[in-house]
Amino acid sequence: MQIIKAKNYEEMSRLACSLLVEHVQQTESPVIGLATGSTPEGLYKCLVKEFREGRVSFRAVSTFNLDEYAGLSMEDANSYQWYMTDKLFAHVDVPARQIHLPDGMSQDFEQECLNYERQIQEAGNIDIQVLGLGLNGHIGFNEPGTSFLSRTHVVDLDESTREANARFFPSIDEVPTQAISMGIASIMESKKILLLVSGKEKAEALYQAMNSPVSEEFPATILQLHPEVTVIADELALSKV
Ligand code: GLP
Repeated sequence: MQIIKAKNYEEMSRLACSLLVEHVQQTESPVIGLATGSTPEGLYKCLVKEFREGRVSFRAVSTFNLDEYAGLSMEDANSYQWYMTDKLFAHVDVPARQIHLPDGMSQDFEQECLNYERQIQEAGNIDIQVLGLGLNGHIGFNEPGTSFLSRTHVVDLDESTREANARFFPSIDEVPTQAISMGIASIMESKKILLLVSGKEKAEALYQAMNSPVSEEFPATILQLHPEVTVIADELALSKV
């Protein structure tokens, strides 16, 4: 694991942004894996700025998001499709046909999961997967106890995850109980992983991800076994490492 220490959230976002922009500039058909949540918001702002100022084009980029809530349509302001459109896709030149998120409104989740895996494989796998870190060690929506062999699947969300994400919803009752998420094995097939962590609240989780024995009980520990992980974290998040 390569650890890059940023002074604060803004610097973490800028460093992640430079790394992605450089990859997009240097690669013919870049395949980028994207995450949602509060952590990558600064990264997306920076990517939009880089695009607006003419330093990068996303015309050749394909994107795959980690996850989507089950039962939320793309018109729902809490869906990850909406989040991505609002924060990034509507403001850059990535063609709609090259954007991929699991379909949370699918009539056949099992088939949807298989399709999503197939699409990732057809794209030649993900070059760089951006990851955030859940307080309980989840990556994507892979909660503690998820098999390291899992591929894109339907997950039951932990109560703690629903509580953590309730801040985006009018009330906790409206937070979906299920989601579709890339599996741990799918994530681990990415050529490079970029883990972004910010804030004191995440310090313990980051410490465990980096130092605890690799275990399905703390999904992010699997990253210790990936050959190319870059952690960009701010001082507060690294305060226990
Ligand atoms: C959410 C998402 C993850 C995200 C994580 C951390 O539940 N499914 O992809 O990385 O939790 O979110 P945040 O960045 O808001 O702390």
